[in-house]
Amino acid sequence: VQHSRKTSLSDIPFAADWEIPISELKLGPKIGQGAFGDVLRGTWQGTDVAVKRLQNNGSYSQAIVAIRHEVAVIMRLRHPNIILFMGACTVPPDICIVMEYAANGSLYGVLHNPNIGIDMATVVRWASEAARGMNYLHTRNPPIVHRDLKSVNLLVDGDWHIKVSDFGLAMTKQSSYAYSQVGTWGWMAPEVLESAPYDEKADVYSFGVVLWELITREEPFRGYHPMQIMRAIDRGERPAIPESCPHTYKQLVQDCWQKDPNGRPVFEEILGRLGAMSINLF
Ligand code: ADE
Repeated sequence: VQHSRKTSLSDIPFAADWEIPISELKLGPKIGQGAFGDVLRGTWQGTDVAVKRLQNNGSYSQAIVAIRHEVAVIMRLRHPNIILFMGACTVPPDICIVMEYAANGSLYGVLHNPNIGIDMATVVRWASEAARGMNYLHTRNPPIVHRDLKSVNLLVDGDWHIKVSDFGLAMTKQSSYAYSQVGTWGWMAPEVLESAPYDEKADVYSFGVVLWELITREEPFRGYHPMQIMRAIDRGERPAIPESCPHTYKQLVQDCWQKDPNGRPVFEEILGRLGAMSINLF
């Protein structure tokens, strides 16, 4: 195949060490959906795993480029609040990424399950854990910008700890396609919506939307069309923060949502402010 030389995973340094033979994987039911295929539950070496499997649509080149990119990013990441990459199957037609299984699914699913009670201490703890994962990404050299931070991409493990996941859109800061308009509408920073240059501060804006999701347990701009979201954000509108929200928390959300990316806090500062909130709760 002509594209195989250019897109082979073996072009990534160390990637061969991560190879998992497909015969070692037991695949189970579908638990999620990504841009290039499904996420399945499975087991590997006797332990639960999640398997992101590429769709068999006959043409692999685009999908292989995508997975190659994702593997190149996640193989470098080791942090308690980042979903753990375990390996990949890179031999067509079985192209997949094997990762840690998060037993409680996505934070989105948890927030939209009315049977799960979430108090303010839990909100601040989950926000802090997500911020720790994001701080780790932004302090890599070069920094990694996630570009699709939202509760759907924050997983909740069996001990109810948060893990940042889905690095399909992540980029290292010097990448050439830095200014493309990617992500999910309601979570996109103004500069991303305007297709202007952006950096890791776009993730801080999205984190503000996650803070808002944790408090409201709603979806930002639900029912709006993308153009309506763009116009609203351009006018300086933001999702409404409920009156019941503690003042310091509301202030943090608003700071993350500043139009000027340089006015937004970095995750180091966000962690300090969340830490102060957690002390004042007890
Ligand atoms: N959905 C997507 N990725 C997942 C994972 N690693 N664990 C559980 N659910 C998921």
